[in-house]
Amino acid sequence: MVQEQSALAQTPAPPRKKIVLSGVQPTGVLHIGNYVGALSLWAQQQDEFHNYFMIADMHALTVPENVKAKALRANSRSVAALYIASGIDPEKNVIFRQSSVTAHAYLAWILTCCTPMGWLERMTQFKVKAEQVESIGTGLFTYPALQAADILLYNADYVPVGEDQRQHVELTRDIASRFNHLFGKCFRLPEGLYRTTGARVMGFDDPTAKMSKSLAETQSGHAVNLLDPPNVVKKTIMSAVTDTNNEARFEHASPGVRNLLELYEVLTKQERPQIEAQFHGQGYGSLKAAVVEAVNETLRPIQETYKQITEEPGYLDGLLARGAERAGEVAERTLKRARELTGL
Ligand code: TYM
Repeated sequence: MVQEQSALAQTPAPPRKKIVLSGVQPTGVLHIGNYVGALSLWAQQQDEFHNYFMIADMHALTVPENVKAKALRANSRSVAALYIASGIDPEKNVIFRQSSVTAHAYLAWILTCCTPMGWLERMTQFKVKAEQVESIGTGLFTYPALQAADILLYNADYVPVGEDQRQHVELTRDIASRFNHLFGKCFRLPEGLYRTTGARVMGFDDPTAKMSKSLAETQSGHAVNLLDPPNVVKKTIMSAVTDTNNEARFEHASPGVRNLLELYEVLTKQERPQIEAQFHGQGYGSLKAAVVEAVNETLRPIQETYKQITEEPGYLDGLLARGAERAGEVAERTLKRARELTGL
């Protein structure tokens, strides 16, 4: 008996599964950039981590002029369905709406108070978005503090996102450090996880601009949306901006061609030399046709699963309610500690 106990004592505890939190704003239909930069990465790594995948519906309010309650609710459900359709297992991962865990708003206030204005003024996304809207709401400005709350409530080790979110993840670390310094240790400092290829998919109509949901709404030919039918995908990609050369090498290609090559690389998981050999001397028509095929092959199963999920009455509501409960328990624990430390 004694021997058994000492043998047990020597067995090392299994390593803690690292925690992931990430999310998407439910503004408009998700595009292939969201899939490549974020959703597909989450799905690919899901077994390695303990994951929280959030629908960032409170972030969608930062431009309130664009919000209609019914559409926002529908979009949130649609994003949840797209998470699952992209391969995220709803049994193994926590999928929830940000607004259904009230701790996000509470911690966001605490963190806003710990965030110097200068830090927020530096945010590139704020500067870009502020130019696109008529009236700049305070929420658009303090948006990154809410994002920090999203991440810190779950003690996330990793935040898998596209390149455009790098600055927000780094700011989250700064905000967490400042809180810990002012009030005592509360938050783990998270790290961003980015794809080496595909972390920044560019617009098909303008390869100097990042593919974005807002541009996709106003510029036809800008993006492929995850629910686009095959003929629309074909039309968009076949009219993608390229150049008048005939260059299919990654390092020498112009931005539009490189964007197509990289998309092909990520979606087909082929090596660069193989891809370069395949399209060498072929002209861009064959590259575009191959990208159309790769995109449609990717979207077909996503759209099939999406249809099944959205047609099953009550399924998404049940899933989101369970997700909110599981996320809420963890978030409330962290918030309790932050309140104790601040005296609230
Ligand atoms: P959002 O909704 O703009 O984008 C969702 C995810 O898609 C990535 N992404 C891209 N990746 C590659 N190429 C592109 N062209 C492209 N466009 C978007 C984004 O980097 C992101 O990973 N603020 C966030 C949502 C959010 C969040 C969070 C994310 C709220 N709280 C906490 C992580 C952790 C946003 O607006 O993402």
